Amino acid sequence: MDSYIIESNKKKSRLPARLDFAQSGTGLILGLFMWVHMMLIGSIILGKGSFNFVAKTMELAFLSETGHGFPIAVFFAVLTIFTLFITHALLGVRKFPISWKQHRIMRDQMQMMNHTDTNLWYVQVITGFIMFFAGSVHLYIMMTNPGSIGPYMSADRIVSGNMWPLYLVLLICVELHGTIGLYRLCMKWGWFAGKDAKKSRQALKKFKNRATIFFMTVGILALLVFIVIGINHRDKVGERYGSYVAVEQVEQVEQVQTDTAIAVPAEPQVPVVEGTLESEQAHEPEIVQEVEVTHE
Ligand code: HEM
Repeated sequence: MDSYIIESNKKKSRLPARLDFAQSGTGLILGLFMWVHMMLIGSIILGKGSFNFVAKTMELAFLSETGHGFPIAVFFAVLTIFTLFITHALLGVRKFPISWKQHRIMRDQMQMMNHTDTNLWYVQVITGFIMFFAGSVHLYIMMTNPGSIGPYMSADRIVSGNMWPLYLVLLICVELHGTIGLYRLCMKWGWFAGKDAKKSRQALKKFKNRATIFFMTVGILALLVFIVIGINHRDKVGERYGSYVAVEQVEQVEQVQTDTAIAVPAEPQVPVVEGTLESEQAHEPEIVQEVEVTHE
């Protein structure tokens, strides 16, 4: 009884609220990052050249004279995102039902309440759990191979490296988790509340659904384009897009050269018209200079 009284007099700790705030903060950054990330990956839909341009820009190639990028820049970007990812996951597991009993109670309440936002929270838990593993694999590969991003190397990783199943699962999880997460943040912190809370909630829900469909479509289209490129590139795994273009350009130049060589004869045969300057020059005997050789 005494210890309980001592307990209840203790000032309420602010730590849970701070952890909640940190979880929202890391979630907000990761959620917005994923929208940008998917648009950058989606550039493959516009063609290999545009994806190559995006990959080189992410490597800060515009800072180098040769146009070669700095994979170290990607390494630090991945390291930052990986740290945020692990921190967010760590803060997230606090809310996971950790025993079967807790899980059972939660499922029963969900069925009883049938409240969409509560159901969305359950989707967060499941997709978050899957991303512990699938997201870490992707981030570790990106962190240890920062210079291997390009139309061919990415496609090779997806097809010849068998990454496509992981990306498909990760894509579905991250698009659901990310957009639901951003929607829940707006609900939790009252962002975009407007005068009519009910109306703005409906508007935000509509936006969430459309954003999920949009980014899922971009992601699946990009994955399909990568798979087609990867299948066609299976016999040249490891070849960099840049080197391919260079070879192609050299071949094109050589082709142009051969074409022009065939079309244009070596020396234009100007017919010599008698009595003109040319004819006189043509008839001038060649002057052979005799050289005296002295043997030393
Ligand atoms: C800075 C950190 C990141 C970098 C540099 C990065 C880079 C890439 C690259 C280059 C691809 C194209 C495929 C490849 O080359 O293998 C890709 C695909 C993908 N990434 Fe990331 N990524 C990062 C973080 C994340 C995170 C945190 C997630 C989710 C947890 C994620 C989810 C995905 C998904 C789902 C795909 C497949 C895209 C599709 O289906 O079209 N990425 N990422």
